[in-house]
Amino acid sequence: MCGIIGYAGHRPAVPVVMEGLERLEYRGYDSAGVAWPAACGIGVARARGKLSALAEKLAAMPPVLATCAMGHTRWATHGEPAERNAHPHLCPDRSVAIVHNGIIENYQELRQDLLARGYAFQSETDTEVLVNLIAERRKTEPDILRALAVALREARGAYAICLLCEEEPGVLYAARQQAPLICGIGVGENFVASDIPAFLPWTRKVVFLEDGEIIRINATSREIFRISDLSPVGREPASIQWDMQAARKDGYRHFMLKEIFEQPRVINDGLAGRLNAAHDLPALPELDALPIPSRLDIVACGTSWHAGLWGRHLLENWAQIPVSVDIASEFRYRERLLLEKDGAAIFISQSGETADTLAALRRGHDAGIPTLGLCNVVGSSIAREARSVIFTQAGPEISVASTKAMTSQMLALALMAISWALRKGCMEQREAREQIAILRDLPSLLDDILPEMRVRAQELAVKYATCKNFFYLGRGFSWPLALEGALKLKELSYIHAEGYAAGEMKHGPIALIDPAFPTFAIAPDDALFAKLKSNIMEVRARNGKVIALTNPGVELDADDLWIVPKIPAPLSALAALPALQLFSYQMADYLGKDVDQPRNLAKSVTVE
Ligand code: G6P
Repeated sequence: MCGIIGYAGHRPAVPVVMEGLERLEYRGYDSAGVAWPAACGIGVARARGKLSALAEKLAAMPPVLATCAMGHTRWATHGEPAERNAHPHLCPDRSVAIVHNGIIENYQELRQDLLARGYAFQSETDTEVLVNLIAERRKTEPDILRALAVALREARGAYAICLLCEEEPGVLYAARQQAPLICGIGVGENFVASDIPAFLPWTRKVVFLEDGEIIRINATSREIFRISDLSPVGREPASIQWDMQAARKDGYRHFMLKEIFEQPRVINDGLAGRLNAAHDLPALPELDALPIPSRLDIVACGTSWHAGLWGRHLLENWAQIPVSVDIASEFRYRERLLLEKDGAAIFISQSGETADTLAALRRGHDAGIPTLGLCNVVGSSIAREARSVIFTQAGPEISVASTKAMTSQMLALALMAISWALRKGCMEQREAREQIAILRDLPSLLDDILPEMRVRAQELAVKYATCKNFFYLGRGFSWPLALEGALKLKELSYIHAEGYAAGEMKHGPIALIDPAFPTFAIAPDDALFAKLKSNIMEVRARNGKVIALTNPGVELDADDLWIVPKIPAPLSALAALPALQLFSYQMADYLGKDVDQPRNLAKSVTVE
């Protein structure tokens, strides 16, 4: 996740670009940079850290008068947050500069080829590979538009880029493939950006770029071409109605809703760069640095702990590695032997700063076991201190209640389990390919079903809004979902909710059931369906109301059936989770609660 913006117009461009970057900073803030056409060559300023560091640097320079510029705010993926990895990146003769959001998946192959041709690299980024590739292609194709198209046809992956070429000082080129890019059309000025808020103060007239397209803008014109053959594309502008506040949320009412609807993209991004060249098996170099553990401890808090509980099933079933899952605040004080030969521990944290998880990680270090961080925030304490890190790449999560981060953690755990299972020889390649195919199909399925899911969530929330208590029941892979559903409901709507392993109900909690104490059953059509069905009957026999989240074609007696498409277990959880999130979201919104910032909570709990 990064933010890019380009401006070609009549005003001093750098201040316009800096203002736009401020509104894109939610997309990442590890470093930032700008580039502009200078008297000789391309001028560049870059700084590590938040945008304010770049602003200070620019303030110390003579004012830049160029009326064309582009900028970038970075969420590090390839290469640590450092100035040398900050964008824009330039080719060796500094004639071309680019900013980039996304991941060039085949950058290592391209880099090897360029190294062999004598290119030297200043950064560890995939972006520098791309700008050097463009420079290389210009040797045979001097026209910048053609050279760019040729290079992009060779690059695999997801990207939105903006390019400035020394020879065309008032012109910007931008292109997209599976990453957002929008053109803003002003009077005597044009923009390109990752997100509309970047240019919303200046224009509401936009053109949405599609995958596989390049746009060329100057102050007064814009032209769109297909990357494949440079044929021109005609597209009518649209008009944006949002105000600034809503726009930061992409028109969604709350950040939480936006983040729930971002989950298809999160799965796409989590797979990008984590699959082999054929895109059918995992490729996780971070794991290869560790020996295959003989047993694992998973340690986390809150929603991340629930992701760990779900991941345990996959690691045990697929990779046949025994797993213990602990809450970090318990783990750090438990007197248990960590020094098991060949063991390892995984610390899951969206923020990478949760105090208990960090303390547990340090305990793991003291015990001498290999530690693996599963983090969303690059440069966070856990990411820096763990021996090895897998970044979950969900992008900044703003709503306090975690949603898309859990999906990204589950995805990473699934890829890890498949990787280890293949290395151990306990999963056949055919089965691994089937699971990867399910994951690859999920984003488009979720894109299709999320709007309908929201409508159903709304109906059910209104129907059950007067309840003071809720049970969430699940078995096997669905038990962690029951815990997460209950957590979401209580943290957002302040309705008391208990998540239970369905088989445990009869050991006490069932005494609480009455017509005013409903049960939300997570009942996918999987191997444990018949068992869960019996538990639902036990609840209904005691006059308890039941909402059952299930799949088409099952026979189930419930007050409210909520049918979602059937996906083979355990990955079915990735399609059930958004339903639980949406139910809590709609309930909290209906009850008038502060959805994005519930009372008493914090996004990152950095105290014990
Ligand atoms: C807080 C947040 C939760 C989150 C938990 C763990 O309680 O409100 O949403 O799940 O911390 O955070 P982490 O950043 O370590 O995943």
